[in-house]
Amino acid sequence: MADYDVIVIGGGPGGYVCAIRAAQLGLKTACIEGRGALGGTCLNVGCIPSKALLHASHQHHELQANFPKMGISAKEISVDWKQMLAYKQQTIDANTKGIEFLFKKNKVDWIQGWGRINGQGQVRTGDKSLTADNIVIATGSESSQLAGVTIDESTIVTSTGALELKKIPQTLTVIGAGVIGLEIGSVYARLGSEVSVIEYLDHVTPGMDAEISKTLQRLLTRQGLKFKLSSAVESVTRGKSGAQVKFRSRKDDSEQSLDAEIVLLATGRQPFTEGLGLEEAGIALEAGGQVKTDAALRTNVEGIYAIGDAVAGPMLAHKAEDEGMAVAETIAGHSGHVNYNVIPAVIYTHPEVASVGQTEQDLKAEGRGYKVGKFSFMGNGRAKAAMSADGFIKLLADAESDRILGCHMIGPSVGELIHEICVAMEFGASAEDVALTCHAHPTLSEAVREAALACGDGAIHA
Ligand code: NAI
Repeated sequence: MADYDVIVIGGGPGGYVCAIRAAQLGLKTACIEGRGALGGTCLNVGCIPSKALLHASHQHHELQANFPKMGISAKEISVDWKQMLAYKQQTIDANTKGIEFLFKKNKVDWIQGWGRINGQGQVRTGDKSLTADNIVIATGSESSQLAGVTIDESTIVTSTGALELKKIPQTLTVIGAGVIGLEIGSVYARLGSEVSVIEYLDHVTPGMDAEISKTLQRLLTRQGLKFKLSSAVESVTRGKSGAQVKFRSRKDDSEQSLDAEIVLLATGRQPFTEGLGLEEAGIALEAGGQVKTDAALRTNVEGIYAIGDAVAGPMLAHKAEDEGMAVAETIAGHSGHVNYNVIPAVIYTHPEVASVGQTEQDLKAEGRGYKVGKFSFMGNGRAKAAMSADGFIKLLADAESDRILGCHMIGPSVGELIHEICVAMEFGASAEDVALTCHAHPTLSEAVREAALACGDGAIHA
């Protein structure tokens, strides 16, 4: 008999959720994690700490920009960076300790160390050899490297170093206008840094709805971020006090440079599978380094599954969580399933950006007939009362059946609002179904209903 029914390698959102669900389904489960805390990149050096800093820096922005307009004044506004970092650390600790508690509650063994697969059903960590009927690879991802850029995590940093800077820099150059670049760029711009973002493409947030992407760039420019688009970074050189980024314009081929106290490299992430022994275990990989899986997230080796950032698909914590639950269900003999058509994506800038389903670009490429229902937050009373009326919601529905195909939002709390559409899409709802649903007044959610109304006879407040 094996030591465990399931051993999960990696304790991030994919791995810990998989382990908890497996234990809840009656399987003897262990999770191997060597970081010293559970929660993976997301809880320790990603989603959670960045949200703490986004929250704190947004409060600072509100205090400066909007409080006086509401009749609230403060004599002196200052930022205690050390305290802000301490608050960020408390947020991390509260969350990672919470996972430890959940492991104890659900009787999941946390084995501290780095796991290595020694073949079918066998895992090694340190000098311990363990056997399991099922192994789940949930080892996540790491920042991608860029030729000509050497990371030192103090002056030339990835997102990990950017969340731990010794002081708020006067100048920050961000390489890559993707999710990480814009979220972290926003934090420091709000705290007073001069932030420049260099992006290879001619637009920010690749893959996003084009109108949302343009609006986000315009609003972030208003907040002080400077964008250099269509520019390919070729090298970063460290100087005495900072670093110089050299980049080439893709429009006229001219070489340009920018000096900054800190440079953040945010040009994507890649699967992290180093030291796992995949090659020796005969586990097949995709060309991009992801672990190859079938639709049930099985690798080519019997009893070994893989989930999350280590496999193909969007690198999102909630996609990993869903895959973790699905694999646990499959191992327990139930039917595990992930609906990849309904995975929301959120960018936690201010305003937030959220999307689910197909974009207009996707639908045009597919040649599908569609309707657009658009509603601006300018017509939403609650958003105006909160001085947050920038942005809009765009709902896309099939031209014939009215079935919702996608939704793209930019505006206040849209990271929460998007889930109404996710539920609607899971139920195969039409835009009219949402339009006919009573929404409380005054709420931001009314803007979702108005966008759905705009797919039919028209929004009321437009
Ligand atoms: P990304 O793929 O979102 O953006 C990287 C950007 O860098 C792209 O726009 C790309 O064109 C640009 N780029 C690449 N090479 C370049 C060069 N030589 N010069 C200039 N620009 C260049 O990657 P990012 O922001 O690093 O995020 C990594 C992963 O983490 C993503 O998959 C993202 O979804 C995930 N993530 C998600 C978050 C969320 O859901 N809120 C938060 C943070 C990360």
